Amino acid sequence: MIPDAFIQDLLHRIDLVELIDGYVPLKKTGANFAACCPFHSEKSPSFTVSPSKQFYHCFGCGAHGSAIGFLMAYSGSGFVETIRELASRCGLPLPDEQRHVPQNGPRLQALAERMAQAASFYYEQLKRSESAIRYLKERGVSGELARRFGIGYAPPGGKGLAATFDDYDNPELQLAGLVIKNDEGRLYDRFRDRVMFPIANQKGEVIAFGGRVLGAGEPKYLNSPETPLFEKGRELFGLPQARTAIRDSDTVIVVEGYMDVVALAQHGIGNAVATLGTATTPIHVQKLLRQAERVVFCFDGDAAGRKAAWRALENSLEVLGEQTTIGFVLLPEGDDPDSLVRQGGGQAFQRLILEATPLSDFLLRELSRHCDLSSAEGRARLVADAKPLLGRMLSPLLRLQLVKRLAEISGFSQAEVERLCALRAIAKPAPARAPRQTPSLLRPLLRLLLQNPALGSRLPLGLLPEQAPETRAIRLLCATIASAGTQPLAYPALLEKLRGSAEETMLHAAAAELMQQPFAEDEIDSEFDGALAQLLEGEHKRAFARLQEKVQKLGVAGLSREEKQQYLQALSARSKGGQTV
Ligand code: UTP
Ligand code: MN
Repeated sequence: MIPDAFIQDLLHRIDLVELIDGYVPLKKTGANFAACCPFHSEKSPSFTVSPSKQFYHCFGCGAHGSAIGFLMAYSGSGFVETIRELASRCGLPLPDEQRHVPQNGPRLQALAERMAQAASFYYEQLKRSESAIRYLKERGVSGELARRFGIGYAPPGGKGLAATFDDYDNPELQLAGLVIKNDEGRLYDRFRDRVMFPIANQKGEVIAFGGRVLGAGEPKYLNSPETPLFEKGRELFGLPQARTAIRDSDTVIVVEGYMDVVALAQHGIGNAVATLGTATTPIHVQKLLRQAERVVFCFDGDAAGRKAAWRALENSLEVLGEQTTIGFVLLPEGDDPDSLVRQGGGQAFQRLILEATPLSDFLLRELSRHCDLSSAEGRARLVADAKPLLGRMLSPLLRLQLVKRLAEISGFSQAEVERLCALRAIAKPAPARAPRQTPSLLRPLLRLLLQNPALGSRLPLGLLPEQAPETRAIRLLCATIASAGTQPLAYPALLEKLRGSAEETMLHAAAAELMQQPFAEDEIDSEFDGALAQLLEGEHKRAFARLQEKVQKLGVAGLSREEKQQYLQALSARSKGGQTV
């Protein structure tokens, strides 16, 4: 856990405009700055940065956050990693992490250093292994490519790594997945006599390995287990090496195997990455779509490759934007990108990628394989099968295209397809609405506090209705204001406190509204006083309701003297009319 105070301090030192401007050139527009959104494709800028409140909001796609949120989204790094990066940018020493980690807990940094050391050890070992060099040569991997991917060799024998790690029994090595302890407590290398492919994160730090046997043998590839550094569903092999080529071609090719990536690079196709023997996850797709508008999945034509392609399709649906294109290439059975590019060369392979089947075609083609489209039942089944997939597509335009295609194929009308797929219901995802009883004054109150945090000290928190979701946000905001002491900080610090909570969306909306339409300086006080009066009135009403409930249960005799007095006062106030108490 990183202490809140540290995060506040960090946010205080970073200028969001300067930070973002380093990635996305910003233009001043009135009180704010704007650019075309880096998180979705657009032609006119709806990405807006507030210099006074230190947050960004995209009016197109809803991306919203602080400096921390921006860097996380932009680089795909995790929270802790991002904090570390920002801290080093402003020269702020991190609080002693050791204290906040469970006892004996490893520090990520320490694990990363272990991995780096192991990677350079394996790399050096490759030079000494004739058999491994011969193996790579036979597979057409040049020395240059081996260097580019940091390919290495894990020597045979039980404790090869002991040659580079003096403290071979240090538990960190086991946690990093490099060393295994057997049932008798003996330690040995996980990777032995294997060609080693280092897997790096976006920053290029080695976080895992895949190791291939030199010839036949099981398993063909041995991979690092998941560790504090390595979460399979997030990482892709070859991403740091592919970055430039991805940017230049605005396309990323996703293949299945380590050797596919290496062989493609060897033939001049540098924009390929591989999932790590796991299914493509939405996190993968999101990460890739942040770097290129076009993603092409290129899998083997066998049953497993088909299945992998289908999973990739399913997991792409919810992250697909209007501007992005996703394509599929299923290779002839028995081939993979490695074998194909070696036979046919880079140009022929590029052609395959250019001619990739668009997502909607692939979707319909695969669904049709299971339906007999010559019968009415089969066509109905096609629509039924498409229903859950349509439901996962968040982009209305893409969904409409698919509905049209489904209508053509099935013979149903477009309206019928929509009805069959219950698209009306899906088309309106339940907005994160506050419960009905929430007094509408809480939203303006939240906006007032966001605009002018100094008001926080004047707000009697006890008056806020317990049940309302805004109440939690307002309470946290006031606490943040009180602890930060510096006005402009309150909002980004609050954002970090509410990260992932139910209140987040509401807060984003409030801040975005404020960005477009701030309160005039001279109306803030009267607006705030009005809100206070309403709060007070609400509290009176609730107090009366509580008394009334007690009276119904216990009779007037059940009230204390004080309560009785309040009750009678309230009753007489009511009977005089006009008053709402
Ligand atoms: P393939 O079996 O298609 O192998 O596995 P490949 O990539 O063509 O390997 P080569 O060309 O024979 O060297 C595809 C990917 O699935 C994962 C690896 O990431 C591999 O690259 N895999 C495969 C494993 O993790 N473990 C295995 O035992 C096999
Ligand atoms: Mn292969």
